[in-house]
Amino acid sequence: MTESRFVARPDWYTATNPETRAATGAPLRWGVVATGGIARTVTADLALLEDAALHAVSSRRQSTAAAFAADFGFATHYYDGGPDGSGAEGYRQLVNDPDVDVVYVATPHAQHHAVAKAALEAGKHVLCEKSLTINAAEAAELIALARASGLFLMEAVWSRFVPGFQRALQIVDSGEIGDVEWVRADLGFPAPVDETARIWAPAAGGGALLDLTVYPLLWPWATLGKPATVSATGALTAFGVDRQNALTLGYDSGAQAQLMSYLGSFGPRQAVVCGTKGMIETVGSVNNPLELRITIGWDAPRTEVFEVPGRGYTYELREVTRCIQAGLTESPTMPLDDSLAVMELFDDVRRQLGVTYPNDPR
Ligand SMILES: NC(=O)c1ccc[n+]([C@@H]2O[C@H](COP(=O)([O-])OP(=O)(O)OC[C@H]3O[C@@H](n4cnc5c(N)ncnc54)[C@H](OP(=O)(O)O)[C@@H]3O)[C@@H](O)[C@H]2O)c1
Repeated sequence: MTESRFVARPDWYTATNPETRAATGAPLRWGVVATGGIARTVTADLALLEDAALHAVSSRRQSTAAAFAADFGFATHYYDGGPDGSGAEGYRQLVNDPDVDVVYVATPHAQHHAVAKAALEAGKHVLCEKSLTINAAEAAELIALARASGLFLMEAVWSRFVPGFQRALQIVDSGEIGDVEWVRADLGFPAPVDETARIWAPAAGGGALLDLTVYPLLWPWATLGKPATVSATGALTAFGVDRQNALTLGYDSGAQAQLMSYLGSFGPRQAVVCGTKGMIETVGSVNNPLELRITIGWDAPRTEVFEVPGRGYTYELREVTRCIQAGLTESPTMPLDDSLAVMELFDDVRRQLGVTYPNDPR
């Protein structure tokens, strides 16, 4: 029988579970670095947690820092008064604020390493957006620093914690669909090509791989484990990042997975896990499935429906809170070795595709 990995305990994420608050009895004080799209979405969900204090936000500009702080009720805000406009001065002040316990890094991928490193060096716990970094060398450095400092570090792969995904893993573990033989998963959307936009720019770690592939990859990674082989093909833009990529994963058991990530088209945005007795299909979303369709044998499918508070990020935020309050330095559901292994796999895929970034090791 196939056993899935990183199954969370559902009661970890309930607001009433005393275990999640017992360790400190105090709310965690959050500092948020950046005021872009995901910073805004995740902060709105953070505000739903009763034991989160929105302490500080930093931005490259005073106006955006102040507006974000006012919108969400942050106690203070920082910004970059320096000449280069990199945001470094703002986030340095934030990570050195003694009233910040945990830093949420919501900058583009290429800035994750510098911001997370500064936060860890300042003694702060870190939740860092995906992809953790732009290459495995950067990821390994951050992980070593967090471990040496005894600080919590987690890549913000929120989909590992959402109820639809966790329920799919429970079904696989129960043996209901038998042994998993193959998985197919995809994610993407049409994004206007713009060499300067963070989703495309080589200097920002642009392309479908670092932005999207972590989500389809979750499904085989959770149900079959780390693959033995990865074969990648892709279509690159004129400026050298992947507009789309197709990965075939192979396993020693003979199981296979096919993953598609794309920035040029619409698509089903779906995961299908196929076993010897039946299959599970996500309906509506691959990264936060609110519906699962389960078909056993030749029976009619049954549907399971899930509700999530906010936009679905409270589950990962509660995990960060639970771990830090319990004195854990990494999440058992999103371990750092997994983040590193995924970055190594992405390095390998980029070698196969011919995609390089300016801050890759020479
Ligand atoms: N978990 C999810 O569901 C999810 C969804 C989307 C994105 N993400 C991840 O979150 C990260 C940010 O994505 P996003 O969509 O929020 O991007 P975005 O809307 O472009 O926002 C990024 C923000 O980072 C700050 N920043 C700092 N240095 C920057 C630089 N050199 N260039 C551009 N911006 C810089 C800016 O905020 P200031 O102007 O305030 O400094 C900017 O608004 C990415 O790593 C992405 O993979 C995760």
